[in-house]
Amino acid sequence: MLPPRSIEARKKAGRRNPMNSSVYVTRLIPRPAIELLEQSCSVDVNAEDRVLGKSELVEKVRGKDGILCLLTDMVDQEVIEAADSAKVFANFAVGYDNIDVDAATRRGILVTNTPGVLTDTTAELAWALVFAAARRIPEADRFTRAGRFTGWSPTLFLGQDITGKTLGVVGAGRIGTAVAEKSHGFRMRILYHDIERNPDFERRTGGTYATLDTLLEQADIVSMHVPLTEATVHLIGRHELKKMKKTAILVNTSRGPVVNEKELAEALENEEIAGAGLDVYEEEPKISAALMRLDNVVLAPHIGSASVETRTKMAVMAAENLLAALRGETPPNLVNPEALDRRRK
Ligand code: DGY
Repeated sequence: MLPPRSIEARKKAGRRNPMNSSVYVTRLIPRPAIELLEQSCSVDVNAEDRVLGKSELVEKVRGKDGILCLLTDMVDQEVIEAADSAKVFANFAVGYDNIDVDAATRRGILVTNTPGVLTDTTAELAWALVFAAARRIPEADRFTRAGRFTGWSPTLFLGQDITGKTLGVVGAGRIGTAVAEKSHGFRMRILYHDIERNPDFERRTGGTYATLDTLLEQADIVSMHVPLTEATVHLIGRHELKKMKKTAILVNTSRGPVVNEKELAEALENEEIAGAGLDVYEEEPKISAALMRLDNVVLAPHIGSASVETRTKMAVMAAENLLAALRGETPPNLVNPEALDRRRK
């Protein structure tokens, strides 16, 4: 229950109380977020732990005031049009390439995301992939479990050192910056590339701006942290992979289509680069058979933000965004402020 003064303050400000609003949550999410929504809304949750099909999603969003959705929900124009009462789609992810934001804006529907809370968790996963690939940990684990470890050997699973090497960060936003900051213990030289120089990245990490070509040519580790946009689809393909060192490792924790998966598999198979660590794929959850066959790539199932603490924070943040929108306030993590002028009353 809100304290009386807060209710009064809201009335004065002419804002709505979301009480009686109906909310749809597209999949089971951490309980604290559901409880928060239930304090003031009627909440319907997809209780099955699976992604809804398109027609199910279209059906479920009809008549709902707010929808809490996930990056696996394709919220395209058809879904937006079916959401005839929706005031907000609150995405449970920092990336929102799964939502047709322009279509939402045209209809005055607010779209929100969950930035900040998953930065360190995703950066940690990027480093986990770096080490797993550089030191061949999954391969060594499979070998050991298969009972093939017969004693120490001077040539068993030789990998690569990280300390003192060059880290190349592509995309100098929050997660790219955190990845670079975490390299300080490994005394790495840091190069970064983005559409423009980022003084904050340089101040916090000591990194040097480079063209993408220079970064690819000089980095021992290349870590991708760009959002998925038309300009970043296949940012890394055959041409870029050929520029990388034969000993280099590519890590992608951003979005799958940023890397041309087929051409990456070819480069790994031909040992044009030494290894890769991937958390995201071009057609999730499908992964190309060519990648699956290779030992020099570490494959994770899109778990960048998957820690207990972070997933709870993301869920609560998405719920808070949704509730703010239903109260008629500007949600803290609004990605389409242009929709405010057209928002549904
Ligand atoms: C995001 O929030 O975009 C991440 O990919 C979720 O793990």
